[in-house]
Amino acid sequence: MPDRPQKPLVLVSNRGPVTFDTDGTISRGTGGLVTALTGLASHRPVTWIASAMGRGDADRARQAGGKAFTVQSPVGGDYDVRLVVSDEEAYEGFYSIISNPMLWFIQHYLWDQSNAPDIRTHEVEAYEYGYKLVNEDMADAVVEEIDGVEDPVVMVHDYHLYLLPGMIRKRRPDVFLHHFVHIPWSQSDSWRVLPPKMRDEIYRGILANDIIGFHTRNYRRNFLQCCEDLLDLEVDHKQGVVHIDGREVWVRAYPLPIDAAATRTVSRRVRVRQFEDELLRRRRDHMILRVDRADLSKNVLRGFSAFDLFLDQHPEFRERVTFVAQLMPSRTDVPEYQEYLERIEALVAVVNHRHGTPDWMPIQLKLRDDLEEAMASYRHYDVHIVNAMFDGMNLVAKEGPIVNERDGVSILSENTGAHEELGEFALTVNPFDVQDLANMIHRALTMSGAERKRRADGLREIVLRRSPGDWIDDQLADIRGKAAGAPAHDEV
Ligand code: G6P
Repeated sequence: MPDRPQKPLVLVSNRGPVTFDTDGTISRGTGGLVTALTGLASHRPVTWIASAMGRGDADRARQAGGKAFTVQSPVGGDYDVRLVVSDEEAYEGFYSIISNPMLWFIQHYLWDQSNAPDIRTHEVEAYEYGYKLVNEDMADAVVEEIDGVEDPVVMVHDYHLYLLPGMIRKRRPDVFLHHFVHIPWSQSDSWRVLPPKMRDEIYRGILANDIIGFHTRNYRRNFLQCCEDLLDLEVDHKQGVVHIDGREVWVRAYPLPIDAAATRTVSRRVRVRQFEDELLRRRRDHMILRVDRADLSKNVLRGFSAFDLFLDQHPEFRERVTFVAQLMPSRTDVPEYQEYLERIEALVAVVNHRHGTPDWMPIQLKLRDDLEEAMASYRHYDVHIVNAMFDGMNLVAKEGPIVNERDGVSILSENTGAHEELGEFALTVNPFDVQDLANMIHRALTMSGAERKRRADGLREIVLRRSPGDWIDDQLADIRGKAAGAPAHDEV
C-alpha cells in the first residue's frame, strides 16, 4: 500500500457531500451534516463513505468499481468519497420508513401519538430488511476501507447508522469508533414508541461506540438518562460515562461551529450579486427571512401564522414588509413531507390573499434549493426567523449573522441547539407560541439601530469564536485521550 503522509480519517454518513445526476452533473448535498463535514473534509485527509442516493450516484459508484474516488469540495479542497450502493427496496425502507419518519420523528417529538405511528409488518420489515441491510452494506465498506490499517479511527454520523458501530465492532474489535449525532436526543419515554426489540438493538448498536457526541449538554443528559431508564445500565452522569459489557462509553457535547470563511466566500460569488440586484429592486422598507429545509420540525406553518397575526395587529406595516421564505423541498418520497409542502403552499396562498394588494405579495415563497439565492437574502434581511419546534443545532442561525450586512435581528427558538450559544443576543421565542412570535417580529422591526448593532455584533462574535477545525480537534483530543486510557473528564 502506498504511504500516506497522514492517516486519513474515515467518515461515514448516509448523505454524501455531493450527489451525481444521471448525466454526471454534480450538486452539493443539502442539510446541516453536509455543511459541517464538508468544511472539515476540505481541511484534512478524509475518506468519506456515504450511501449512493439515486441512479446518478449508483452509476458513479459503479464507474469507480465500488471504491473511493476523488471529488472536489464545493468550498475548495479535494477528498475521497466512496459511495455504497444498496438494494433499492431495502434503501427505501431504510430511508423513507425507519430513518425518516420513524427515528427523525421520535427524536424531534413529531409523532402525533394518538394517530401515528402504527407499527405493523410493513415497518418491522423495513427495519429488518431495510435499516439493518443498509447498515450492513456500510459496515462492509468501512471494514474494507480500514483493512490493514493499524488502530483505525472511524467517525460515524447521525441517526441512519445506529446499528453500524455494533456491526463494525464485531468484525474489528480493535477499531476506535466515534459517533456524532446531529439531531436532538429526545427524552426516554419518546423512545417507547419503538417495540422493545428494535429499541434495544438500536441502543446496543450505538453503545458499541467508544465516544458518542451531541451538539448540546441537554441532549447528552437525555442520552445518559435513556441508557438508565430503557436499558437499566450503570451511568455516571457527572463524567458522562455509560458502562456496558465491561466497556466504558464516553458521552460528550461538541457544539458544531460553521466554516465562516467558506460561507463568506460563497456569499461573494457573482451569481449571488445577481440575486441581490433582483432582491433590492423588489425590496420594501423591511425584509423578514427564513431559510430552511421544508421539514416539519422547522415549524414553517406557525411562522406564517405569526406573520398573519402581526399584519392584523399592526396594519401600519402593510405594504412595507415582505417575508421571504426560501424552503428546500426535502424527503419528498415520504408522505408526511409531501403533505407538509402542500400545507405550506396553501397557507401562503391564504395569507397573501388576506393581506396582499395588486402590487404587494406579503410572503414570497421560494421552494427550491439554491444556496446562492439564499446567500443574497442573508445579506439583506432585517429579521431572521428560526422558530424550529426542535432542532439539533440549526446552522442557518449561525450563517445568517456572519453574512448579513444590515445588523439584522435574529429571532431564535429556545428549542434549537444554537440557542445554547446564541440565546443571549437573539430574541428568544417559544416555537409553539404564535402570539409571542408575532410580538417578536414587531419588536425586531421597531428596534433602535444601536440595539440592533449590539445584538448583531454579539452574534457575529460568538459564531466567529470557533471553527469546524476546533470542533474536530476537540473530538480528536478525546479520541487520543480515551485510546491512551485517560479517565473520562467532567464536561466544561
Ligand atoms: C439533517 C440531518 C442530516 C441530513 C440532513 C438532510 O441535517 O442531521 O443527517 O443529511 O438533515 O436530510 P436528507 O434526508 O436530505 O439527507
